[in-house]
Amino acid sequence: MQAWLLKPWAKPLVFVLCLLPCIWLFYAASTDGLGANPAEALLRRTGDWTLRFLCIVLVVTPLRQISGWNLLVRYRRMLGLYAFFYACLHLLCYAWFDMGLDWGDIVADIPKRPFILVGFAAWSILLVLAVTSPKAVLKALGGKRWQWLHRAVYLVVPLALLHFFWMRAGKNNFAEVFVYAAILAALLGWRAVRAIKK
Ligand code: HEM
Repeated sequence: MQAWLLKPWAKPLVFVLCLLPCIWLFYAASTDGLGANPAEALLRRTGDWTLRFLCIVLVVTPLRQISGWNLLVRYRRMLGLYAFFYACLHLLCYAWFDMGLDWGDIVADIPKRPFILVGFAAWSILLVLAVTSPKAVLKALGGKRWQWLHRAVYLVVPLALLHFFWMRAGKNNFAEVFVYAAILAALLGWRAVRAIKK
C-alpha cells in the first residue's frame, strides 16, 4: 500500500475519484436524473457528500495508526479541501435555489433559522481551515499553533450533526443521522482514547 501511495499517478487518481460525486450530480441534473425536485436533490446530495468527506478525512489518522500506512498523511489536505469544496457547493445550492441569490435575504435568513445558522458556523470553520491549509501558512504559524487551529475540525463534527439532526427533526427521520453520528463518534472516540493513553 505504501508503495502504491508513492506512485506518481496515485494523487491525481484520488483527486479524480473525489470529484466523481460532483461530476455525477452535474450529469444527473442535466439529464433529468434527480427526480421531481432537482434543486432540493442537489441541495441534499451536496450536504450528504460534505458529511461523507468529513468522515473520510477523519478516518485518515486512525487508519494510518492501525495500518502503519504513514504516507496516507499526504492525502489528508486534499481530502479536507474536498470536504470544504462540497460544503461550498451545498452553500451555493442553498443561496441559489432556496434564496434566489438574494444576498439581503440570505443574511437575514441565516440567523433566523437555527439549523441554517449551525450549518453556516460549520462552513465558516471549514473556510478558516481551508484558508490556513497551505504549507506556507503552516510555516508562518509554526507547527504547534497550526495543529491547534486545525483541531477546530473536531468542532465541525457536532455542528454538522446538529445541523443534520435539526433538519431531519421536522420529518422525524433520524436513521441516517444516527448512522453518521455513530461513525463520527467512533472516529473521535479513537482519538480521545489514544490521547488519554498517552
Ligand atoms: C459543514 C457544513 C455542512 C454540512 C456537513 C451540511 C450537511 C447537510 C446534510 C447532511 C443535509 C441533509 C441531506 C439529506 O437530507 O440527505 C443538509 C441539508 C441542508 N443544509 Fe446543510 N450542511 C452544511 C452547511 C450548510 C450551510 C452553510 C447551509 C446554508 C447556509 C446549509 C443549508 C442546508 C439546507 C437548506 C438543507 C436542506 C433542508 C431541507 O431540504 O429541508 N447547510 N445539510
